[in-house]
Amino acid sequence: MKIPNYEEAKKRSHEKTSIRNFELDNDYKNIGLNKTYFLKTYGCQMNEHDSENIKGMLDGMNFREVLNMEDANFILLNTCSIRENAHNKAFGMLGRIKHLKEEKPNLKVALCGCMAQEEGVVKEILKKYKFVNFVFGTHNLDDLPRLLANSFKEQKLNIEVYSKEGDIIENMPLERESKYKAYVNIIYGCDKFCTYCIVPYTRGSQRSRRHEDIIKEINELVKDGYQEVTLLGQNVNAYGKDLYEDYELADLLLEVVKTGIPRIRFLTSHPWDFSDKLVEVIKNNKSILNFVHLPVQSGSNRILKLMGRRYTKEAYKELFDKLKSIDGISITTDIIVGFPTETEEDFKETLDLVNYCKYDSAFTFIYSPRENTPASKLEDTTPLEVKEERLYRLNELINKYSKEANLKMIGSEYDVLVEGESSKEGMLFGYTETNKLVNFKGNKDSIGKIVKVKILDAKSFSLDGEEV
Ligand code: SAH
Ligand code: SF4
Ligand code: F3S
Repeated sequence: MKIPNYEEAKKRSHEKTSIRNFELDNDYKNIGLNKTYFLKTYGCQMNEHDSENIKGMLDGMNFREVLNMEDANFILLNTCSIRENAHNKAFGMLGRIKHLKEEKPNLKVALCGCMAQEEGVVKEILKKYKFVNFVFGTHNLDDLPRLLANSFKEQKLNIEVYSKEGDIIENMPLERESKYKAYVNIIYGCDKFCTYCIVPYTRGSQRSRRHEDIIKEINELVKDGYQEVTLLGQNVNAYGKDLYEDYELADLLLEVVKTGIPRIRFLTSHPWDFSDKLVEVIKNNKSILNFVHLPVQSGSNRILKLMGRRYTKEAYKELFDKLKSIDGISITTDIIVGFPTETEEDFKETLDLVNYCKYDSAFTFIYSPRENTPASKLEDTTPLEVKEERLYRLNELINKYSKEANLKMIGSEYDVLVEGESSKEGMLFGYTETNKLVNFKGNKDSIGKIVKVKILDAKSFSLDGEEV
């Protein structure tokens, strides 16, 4: 039993990260014979990618995936802590699983992901959800085979969550969601400690993967015919800082270009670490797609300061303008409304910034206090109705600009990576270089390829077109 601890999770010693190699013990390879699993994933792309590793491990143990929780011998929830509703969803699911477990006492149930790293969550599981078989954290994903095998031997609830800065695990097995586009981790954790955010506690310190390991993975993707790679991290722009003297994201991108993969994306960028060299590299390389997700969070300098974001709206706009000078670029963002002490004036500054940037799209959220974060200790007197009304006004504006950006595309042709058949009969779907969803009439043979699509119609969230 190893329980998470907030004090430990906060520490940053900047010691060298240790790397370990995954190996599946022979004893675990047949545990899943004639058994099935159901995996539910919440949260961001990093969690989705972890789930691809989880599926790889379970496949190696001979488990078969089922899409119906009722048909499973093993249920695993890969959870997210970012906002309260992510929490509530996972606990709601545990409630449903409890009934299932009463009917099927042999069912194995486990929880992992960011919620597992929270002291408060683990305490609640120990108190109210004792039927859970085991809990493991984001730093020991590779313990799944052992913990699962043990759960078949003993019934007792086992918690194995480490609150540490984190290692890097290489050679994890993988079962990728897509045959055409892939996620590749380049940096784990986060050291920014924005005052509202729980990620630095649940994911540990910022630690870069060695560039040779990243390039090796991408070379294999190229060999397997992948068309697109997304380099992943909570703050990819900090890539290399913890590992190299003089090697940054821009250098890594240039190496990725040389692998010959047709499309390269990266996600997420913190404005603080966005170098001029990076802007140039995006501008000068066709395969690095003209798409940047650049979370701003607020347009008020007072609120940005309270959030610990380390930039002013002026500095943000300056960076935005530099990026916007790249022909055809699409920029998206994240915004939080209702941060403690946010006034109508502060909020209007956010609207002003949106009017300035005219984002292609944005994710918008009502501030959600997270346990033990500095912001959760600030006094917050704004009523929820006011926050909801601000969110509504913000979304109206965001949608207006999304639609305007999309309308401008009508009549022109764009490269689309075709991902599959759309839910509408006879139609295909895919994404443009700027990450816009297109539903279009086309030839099924185009699936998995990059084709030209002429845009015929535009909505706020998608485009319609036909293959040319
Ligand atoms: N690393 C990324 C963001 C990761 S979390 C970055 O810094 O840009 C994704 C988004 O969730 C954040 O950009 C923020 O807008 C939102 N978010 C994070 N913590 C939140 C909280 N406590 N309440 C509401 N939204 C939050
Ligand atoms: Fe959270 Fe800030 Fe790190 Fe993003 S940069 S993960 S918002 S602490
Ligand atoms: Fe959620 Fe953890 Fe990602 S908190 S957003 S799953 S890093």
